[in-house]
Amino acid sequence: MKILAIESSCDETAASVVEDGRKVYSNVIASQVKEHIIYGGVVPEIASRMHAEAISGVVKEALLQADCTLDDIDAIGVTYAPGLIGALLVGVNFAKGLAYASGKPLIPTHHLRSHIAANYITSPELKPPFLCLVVSGGHSHIVAVNDYTDFKIIGRTRDDAAGECMDKSARSMGLDYPGGVNLDRISKDGNPLAYKLPRPRVDGCKYDFSFSGLKTAVVNTVHNAKQKGEEISVPDLGASCIHAVTECLVSNTVEAAKEYGFNKIALAGGVSANSVLRRKMTEVCEKNGWELYMPDLKYCGDNAAMVGSQAYYEYLSGNIASLDLNARATMPIDTLE
Ligand code: KG4
Ligand code: ZN
Repeated sequence: MKILAIESSCDETAASVVEDGRKVYSNVIASQVKEHIIYGGVVPEIASRMHAEAISGVVKEALLQADCTLDDIDAIGVTYAPGLIGALLVGVNFAKGLAYASGKPLIPTHHLRSHIAANYITSPELKPPFLCLVVSGGHSHIVAVNDYTDFKIIGRTRDDAAGECMDKSARSMGLDYPGGVNLDRISKDGNPLAYKLPRPRVDGCKYDFSFSGLKTAVVNTVHNAKQKGEEISVPDLGASCIHAVTECLVSNTVEAAKEYGFNKIALAGGVSANSVLRRKMTEVCEKNGWELYMPDLKYCGDNAAMVGSQAYYEYLSGNIASLDLNARATMPIDTLE
């Protein structure tokens, strides 16, 4: 079954053709990063406008690269939640138009479920159940993936997402958006123990995260140094920040895996591209004898191939939308309500 998938939840307009959830025929991404750099983050109105400008060409290119026409496609998958509402609406309305015009089924697809499905593309042998650490710009979850469309949230952030913490920390150090990516790059040779930063814990919920205090500690370190006329070392502070964030992510995931008896662990979301997180996870999984799955770097950030993968499993479970499908800015991964 070939699915044409569309993604527009944030600042990437993407389209892809994927067969049976695992075989990617095309994966086209038009990134808006350059437009948003001068603002230090994504400006929702600009994002919507740029999606509207790009979407038709991106979808056409995805079909072309897959050597397909709409006739060869069996269904249209689209990200409808969660994300920036104006951005999501562009993809959803375009997908609705295509589904209506072609008479093909429309498959509503949850963005975080798609991030998890990126692992099925990179590791075609992977099947649920497994435990997944989903870390993006807006979310940080530890999720039990019981089946392709059956999820249970075991831990979540109480405030900022890991990606947001790194983005804002990076910005305070004068790095460009997207901060997490630049922080990872510039901190490669930094000393992760140079700055003492907190490892926030959530009382009574050992799998939950809290990153806003850590973010504030980094920002305060930068401001205090400025006020005193002292220099900070960006590579050292960056490495210390990444060390702190990843230590929280890894230790909670390890605890959850032990408690819930998982020996297959996966990473997902934009932050799963982080080199330190990948290294630390590899180390703990080797130590515990667990299998570790990580998406290829090109499938970590937002893309439509992962949407095409998850849409296939949504379709098999009977999740098909009518043409009154609406976009939703928020939606839990487990209940879709
Ligand atoms: O999944 P994603 O592309 O978009 C959302 O769904 O939010 O995640 C974007 C987030 C941003 O916060 C970005 O800075 C972060 O992923 N990110 C990274 C790296 N690559 C992307 N954070 C740390 N290290 C990276 N290498
Ligand atoms: Zn994402």
